Amino acid sequence: MMKLSFFKSLNNKLFGWYIGSLIILSVFFYVGVHILAIPRGTELFFLLFFLLAIIGFAIIYNITNDLTYLTKKIKEISHENLRDRIVDIKRDDELGELATAFNNLLNRLDEAFKREQQFIGDVAHELKTPIATMRSALEVAISKDRSNDEYKKVIHDSIIETNHISSTLKNVLDLAWSETPHEQKHFVKLNLSKLTTELIDIADKLASSRLQNVRSNVSSKIYINGYEERLARGIINIIENAIKYTPPKGIITVQLSKKNDRAVLTVRDTGQGILATDIPHIFDRFYRGSTTDNVFGSGIGLSITKSIVNLHHGSIDVKSQPGKGTIFTIKLPLSEN
Ligand SMILES: Nc1ncnc2c1ncn2[C@@H]1O[C@H](COP(=O)(O)OP(=O)(O)O)[C@@H](O)[C@H]1O
Ligand SMILES: [Mg+2]
Repeated sequence: MMKLSFFKSLNNKLFGWYIGSLIILSVFFYVGVHILAIPRGTELFFLLFFLLAIIGFAIIYNITNDLTYLTKKIKEISHENLRDRIVDIKRDDELGELATAFNNLLNRLDEAFKREQQFIGDVAHELKTPIATMRSALEVAISKDRSNDEYKKVIHDSIIETNHISSTLKNVLDLAWSETPHEQKHFVKLNLSKLTTELIDIADKLASSRLQNVRSNVSSKIYINGYEERLARGIINIIENAIKYTPPKGIITVQLSKKNDRAVLTVRDTGQGILATDIPHIFDRFYRGSTTDNVFGSGIGLSITKSIVNLHHGSIDVKSQPGKGTIFTIKLPLSEN
């Protein structure tokens, strides 16, 4: 059994053939031709040589044949036939492994491609709805003479719709930025304590308009490396959610501390919480929870935050109790110097 699996590897098979041939030829030459001096020894030697060469040729032909087939298949793959798979190579050796690895690569590409298409569809949908609403309101407004107040209302509603459009566009651009690979050498050392305090000021203003209370506990002098503006954006998304999904008089608590070699930022709210069935999806692009009917949003905020956190080699977690509140925790590596 051991022997069989040894010869399943192409490497070992070729090696075995090479060494085996040399040994057989040498032994035959030495014993058969030299010692026993069998009749027609030299001719038999050449015949044996020829046979072993043919076996070698068969082995190599079999390999290159499949390699040529694989190359042809790989050349044929484009975005149009990402669903094609290599099914004709059924071997247990390195070539079989290569075919499987290639099929797995295709699976991943196919999935990524589908996600992109879904994303484009979602963006289009997200933009189409406010534009269509605005357009029909404007068409109705212009269809006959109306009072000043009516015109004002239409203009006011249009402004709200354009705000939706521009916030969606801004989100999409942010998401595109955070998902493109960025080099760490452009990171700068930044004071996360100071940034968090500034963001808490913004949170205070947002929350007071909803009669909520912001509490904070920020350790000073916590430094990390990264893109300040982007991190601010990622954190503010979490704070905005906490405010959005918490009823008036609720409490938002922002804390920053150090733990081991990480900066730990938590945003806690006393809001509606997130259903357990929603939790696995909230970081997906355009996913909105099932209880967000009256709250404006497009479901991109958390996916932006997550990719910004990933870009900074950090992690983000959520714990939530429906009806009681939610805690988001972001951990980021501390700056070493
Ligand atoms: N603090 C929170 N409390 C309750 N639900 C939240 C909270 N933060 C996020 N969520 C849920 O996660 C979903 C995704 O959030 P996000 O990506 O910011 O999109 P959006 O806020 O535009 O809906 C929200 O639709 C909401 O259901
Ligand atoms: Mg949001």
